[in-house]
Amino acid sequence: MTKITMPGKKKVLKPGEEAQPPATEVIKQTPSEVAAWVDERVGASGLLRGMLYRKVPRGTNWYHTLGSATLFVFTMQALTGVFLAMYYDPSPASAYESIKYITEDLFLGQFVRGLHRWGSTLMVILVFLHMGRTFIFGAYKYPRELNWLVGVVLLVLTMVMGFTGYLLPFDQRAFWATIVGVNINGTAPLLGPYMSDFLLAGADFGESTLSRFYAIHMLVVPGLIAAMIGAHLYLVVKMGTTAPPWLKAKMKRELIEEKIDAS
Ligand code: HEM
Repeated sequence: MTKITMPGKKKVLKPGEEAQPPATEVIKQTPSEVAAWVDERVGASGLLRGMLYRKVPRGTNWYHTLGSATLFVFTMQALTGVFLAMYYDPSPASAYESIKYITEDLFLGQFVRGLHRWGSTLMVILVFLHMGRTFIFGAYKYPRELNWLVGVVLLVLTMVMGFTGYLLPFDQRAFWATIVGVNINGTAPLLGPYMSDFLLAGADFGESTLSRFYAIHMLVVPGLIAAMIGAHLYLVVKMGTTAPPWLKAKMKRELIEEKIDAS
């Protein structure tokens, strides 16, 4: 066991006793020693080095942070959602009351619910901005087509989260807006009627519909989003990110000028 000495006080060593590092040194070294202990048993440092220490293309800018911003908001949604799920009751008789309790009586309930509600809007905005950035930068082209498709699935899943979450407060607005949404789904070609039957989960819009929306909203889709984000980030790490098009155009011009100079 490490013996700690007070800094500034000189300790007289007994014969055979070893000098101990000062307490501040021990505190400074502890995190790296713990990390080394874990790494020796898990062997994750190679993987982390490969993922985190990489060359970043010239011209990387703030637009490249939109994906990470979306990821941050998704994490916030997951965390605030866990707290809301602790008090929410997904039955038509008490869903509205439980939301009222969260908003009006629960300590920090209104704040957490507000974060979740505004977070959902922010996530939709960010996901579209991020998609726009990748489109304008041409990041959907070879060799990143697959990541674009994974992104499209993430976009659809994000919209499904918004749609299924909207019903959960079970007030008049949520109820009627969702009926309209389910009916619109029903008008889609071929799969439409199956989709609206699946969402209704019964002959009428009622108890089983609310349970189905709740299960989709808090279990199925978050799980799928987490898995798809894993695949999305794996492909980002593998392919790297795309430089802005204006930089590529400049590089092309420089190459042409070089060729002209050489001839
Ligand atoms: C939950 C939603 C999403 C999350 C959390 C997410 C996250 C990320 C992150 C962290 C990056 C790397 C940094 C960056 O370029 O911003 C990235 C890159 C990328 N994302 Fe997304 N993304 C999401 C949705 C989408 C959507 C909807 C699309 C398009 C349909 C898309 C297409 C791409 C592409 C093509 C890249 C590579 C960018 C490049 O090569 O520069 N992502 N994403």
